Amino acid sequence: MSISQQTINEIKNRIDIVEVISDFVSLKKVGSNYRALSPFTNEKTPSFYVSPSKEIYKCFSSSKGGDAISFVMEIEGINYIEAMRYLAAKYGIEIEEEEQTDEQIQAQNERDSLFIVLNFAKDYFSNLLWEHEEGRSIGLSYFKERGFLESTMKQFDLGYSVEAWDGLMKAAKEKGFKEEILEKAGLILKSENKTYDRFRGRVMFPIHNVAGKVIAFGARTLRKDKKQPKYINSPETDVYHKSNILYGIHQARQAIRNEDACYLVEGYTDVISLHQAGVANVVASSGTSLTKEQIQLIGRYTKNITVLYDGDSAGIKASFRGIDLILEHDLNVRAVVFPEGEDPDSYSRQLGSEEFENYLRENAQDFITFKTNVLTEGGSQIDPVQKVKVIREVVESIALIPDGIKRSVYIKSCSDQLQIEEQVLISELNKILIANQRKNRQQAQREQQVEEQIQEVLATPQPKEVPHTTFYVERECLRMLINYGNEEYDERLSIGQFIIQETADIEFEHPEIKEVFDRVSEKVNKGQKIQPDAFISAEDPKTSQFVIGLLDVKYFVSEGWYEKHRIHISHESEDLPTAVFKTVLRLKRKKLEALLTENDEELKSTKDITLQEELLKMRMHLKTLFDEVSSQLGIVVSK
Ligand code: UTP
Ligand code: MN
Repeated sequence: MSISQQTINEIKNRIDIVEVISDFVSLKKVGSNYRALSPFTNEKTPSFYVSPSKEIYKCFSSSKGGDAISFVMEIEGINYIEAMRYLAAKYGIEIEEEEQTDEQIQAQNERDSLFIVLNFAKDYFSNLLWEHEEGRSIGLSYFKERGFLESTMKQFDLGYSVEAWDGLMKAAKEKGFKEEILEKAGLILKSENKTYDRFRGRVMFPIHNVAGKVIAFGARTLRKDKKQPKYINSPETDVYHKSNILYGIHQARQAIRNEDACYLVEGYTDVISLHQAGVANVVASSGTSLTKEQIQLIGRYTKNITVLYDGDSAGIKASFRGIDLILEHDLNVRAVVFPEGEDPDSYSRQLGSEEFENYLRENAQDFITFKTNVLTEGGSQIDPVQKVKVIREVVESIALIPDGIKRSVYIKSCSDQLQIEEQVLISELNKILIANQRKNRQQAQREQQVEEQIQEVLATPQPKEVPHTTFYVERECLRMLINYGNEEYDERLSIGQFIIQETADIEFEHPEIKEVFDRVSEKVNKGQKIQPDAFISAEDPKTSQFVIGLLDVKYFVSEGWYEKHRIHISHESEDLPTAVFKTVLRLKRKKLEALLTENDEELKSTKDITLQEELLKMRMHLKTLFDEVSSQLGIVVSK
């Protein structure tokens, strides 16, 4: 059990440090503070102070100090939770308990062990890079060749995994880590007959979470052979969700805050090289296209993103989606494009710190210029057709910006840059905004409608007039088949053929019924006569007993039921087609009822509106059939 955060907040808001301490110590007001003899020592002159405005206490003779809660902990010798309970009682606050489920506790423990094993792996790989012969001669020299300084390599915890199947696994097991946790951390792979290290013979780039804990690895091969992927990454694990994290965020976050700006690059090496070039406010989306969560992560530190694109990136046009996503989340976006064949990593090394920073500053374009340049391939002469296209594209992006003032600033800028009247742009923008609003409204309406329908559907309880279980209706069908299958239903069909035809889409649930039914069907389909005694043999007493039971009407109904329905039963052979027809209907009705229940369960459990709509449609269809069948049976249907 733990105390809910809400209760903790309530307690914290209510406590008055002077009141709390006064219960244990007699305080005397001195100026704006209070003073007393220390409750922790035997002092003669008071050195214990309480500051109500700062909400702290300090005892100068024992050098203890803290807030009201820590005072209670100290004086009562109790822990935090116990102190909270004490204070809640004092102030009459009801404690809302939160039971931590076993799963929660276990999940917490498991996350902790993942962090621990990942940290172990990081140290293991880094040790190999700096100490191991293969690590030094291959990994370290590669990084050095790339121009990485030792300090940078240490800052990013770079490492090396040797060419071995079980280097990490062995070392980890020696330390007491279980295979299971190594697997859950994404560090080892299991095939049918082998368990082996995921990362082998690669330089290692640990991926840290915001707080600096290692949660995953990126790993680059140094081999030239094309069969191997250049980079492999950790899989998704309980602590690594690649769409929620940015490479380098831990190392960059302070700089991002200080600069109030963030550079966004493609990969590990770009981040590291930029750091070395003195640009510390840089992160990479590494391998994924930018996600909403990643934008929100940057948004915690700054509202300004500058995206850096390779000169030859075929993906620049695809980058429009990322730009729009940033705008949609109310962040400001700029773009820098590098010369043909250069990426941030190579170009920063080529230019050196100062020139590179100048380049970034001088070449950052707002998204209007960027889009315009990309769409016109940088040509200064824009033909009218192109111009229309560019304007549309740009205004569509502007329409995504939630802030109206920002939108008008960009409209103005677009008007200047593309030399088109502001009024024209505004009316274009308004058209898009209105269309978007309509779309949103329609979507909201659609959701509301579906919600109402679901409520209505679920509020009306399902008709359950047929008291029989599926077993009963299934068995009735089989009984008819066995007893009367050879007789005539109408001039075209035998009763056997009729029953089989009508139940073709129905799956019999009960295996003992299904088995006999299928065997009889086979005979009927071959045009053979049904012979109930064919099912009766000493070899298969179970089936024998079952079929015998069917042959005698008194065996399959309880006495009471028999008494009540005797008239019906005794009359069934007088109008066999009707009796058979009704039996089949009852089976269908039961099956429809089950389908309706299933449908409702699904309706209750899904949030997907398209699925909900389909289910509602299906439900209407099933209900119509159900009502039809019911009325044919002469059952009054509740609406
Ligand atoms: P590069 O192909 O430029 O990688 O991709 P590199 O290590 O810098 O290789 P060279 O030396 O230029 O040939 C740039 C970034 O893209 C990501 C990595 O983060 C890399 O740092 N990337 C690239 C992957 O995630 N997977 C890949 O298969 C390739
Ligand atoms: Mn590269």
